[in-house]
Amino acid sequence: MAPSDVHLDRSFFGHPRGLATLFFTEMWERFSYYGMRAILIYFLTDTIAKGGLGFADSKAGAVYGLYTSMVYLLCLGGGWVADRITGRRRAVLIGGILISVGEFCLATPGLPFFYVGLALLMMGTGMLKGNVSVIVGQLYGKDDARRDSGFSIFYMGINIGALISPLICGWVGHTYGWRWGFGIAGAGMLAGVIQYVLGGKHLGSAGLHLPSTGDPEADRRQKRNAIVAVGSALGVLVLLALLGILGVFQMTAEAIADAEGWALCGVVVVVFSWLLFLPGWTPVERKRSAAVLVLFVASALFWASFEQAGSSLSLFAERSTHRSMFGYDYPASWFQTVQPVFVIAFAPVYAWLWLALKRREPSSPAKFALGLLFAGLAFAILVPPALVSAHGAQVSQWWLVSTYFLQTMGELCLSPVGLSAMTKLAPDRAAGFMMGIWFLSTSIGNWMAGKAASLYSSMPIQTLFGSVAAFTIGAAIVMALMIRPTVRLMSGVK
Ligand code: PHE
Repeated sequence: MAPSDVHLDRSFFGHPRGLATLFFTEMWERFSYYGMRAILIYFLTDTIAKGGLGFADSKAGAVYGLYTSMVYLLCLGGGWVADRITGRRRAVLIGGILISVGEFCLATPGLPFFYVGLALLMMGTGMLKGNVSVIVGQLYGKDDARRDSGFSIFYMGINIGALISPLICGWVGHTYGWRWGFGIAGAGMLAGVIQYVLGGKHLGSAGLHLPSTGDPEADRRQKRNAIVAVGSALGVLVLLALLGILGVFQMTAEAIADAEGWALCGVVVVVFSWLLFLPGWTPVERKRSAAVLVLFVASALFWASFEQAGSSLSLFAERSTHRSMFGYDYPASWFQTVQPVFVIAFAPVYAWLWLALKRREPSSPAKFALGLLFAGLAFAILVPPALVSAHGAQVSQWWLVSTYFLQTMGELCLSPVGLSAMTKLAPDRAAGFMMGIWFLSTSIGNWMAGKAASLYSSMPIQTLFGSVAAFTIGAAIVMALMIRPTVRLMSGVK
């Protein structure tokens, strides 16, 4: 299909047919990610006799945080590799294959397979997730009014995948053993890869070509350098792993997670030094980048409490929550479906609400403050049941459902506007980079969420949940005070 034909195509609910291909690719990718994530913390903490790894909560939280944050950090690298070496289209294919192989590694007994599998999953998601979203954008012409609704449909694909997989992988994992759950997650991604290959013809030239400098010789050189860089990075990684395995230096999961935390700080400092202090920016660009920084920090703090959905909240679901519906005792991982259900139900409500408010629609910074407030309240309401459970009682399942509800209300304030607000604020030269910066904030959030989970058994749960609530609500208040200055920094961007 020629590019112009793709832009004109309306055969999928008025959208290009290629959107369906990408919708199902991302649906299966999220199926795999959330199915795996729903059982990961249980697999890590379960006893070896019961098929788990028998990790202490502190170690499990570190591994969980390391994995979930690396997945999003590598989206930065995945975009770069796609632009320099593979192109977006092939990057998604490679990502899908790495993910399925990674899940099958997790399904294979043996600790080395587990760590290799995690590494493949991180790299695979890094290659797939950001790039598939970029291709969605390329299905539309520059001024196509359907673009936003295209992304809303795509967001539904994400949440349908996230909704069904914990039910299936969770049930299989709890009933037949965790590894079978990982196997199903891998099979789902494989289905997605096959679907992607078969549906590729509907994508026209979207994501097919590398951005060119205009000089073929320079392009070739750039590609060669990039291959050398990626090859060396992978080489160093393998070397470090080997040295660690051979016992040349002490390598604990906790130490690696801490090192990653420092690396994340380093990346943030570099990125924002560039955005704020590079001599070439105009004063307005600089001001807008300062606004990006404010939104970035708020976003990272939001995900830090939100992403505990699969870590500390999962532990609370398993250890302290009464789980029964219509006489059926369901597995704890089923709580992971609650958020996507609420997203699918309430995304249209929010879309309507913002439209209905017209000129009174809150600004992006105000939505960020609201998002943080909801995320904080979600933990605040868990403090009373946590107190009750401290005496060994099982609390009602509706507490967690309410928490997940409040978290989703926050997500819908912040997540859909976050990326687009940051993209509009970015200087032109950095616009393509903003997707990566957005994922970087998610990554930091996930890292902090893992840290919180690793404290699960070292302090009373009510103290943990209460601190998260206080911290997040505090951040909401600061963000609320920052609304006006941030809007001013945004210099006219809505
Ligand atoms: N539910 C979202 C998704 O899986 C959560 C998310 C938001 C992840 C932003 C990354 C970045 O896509």
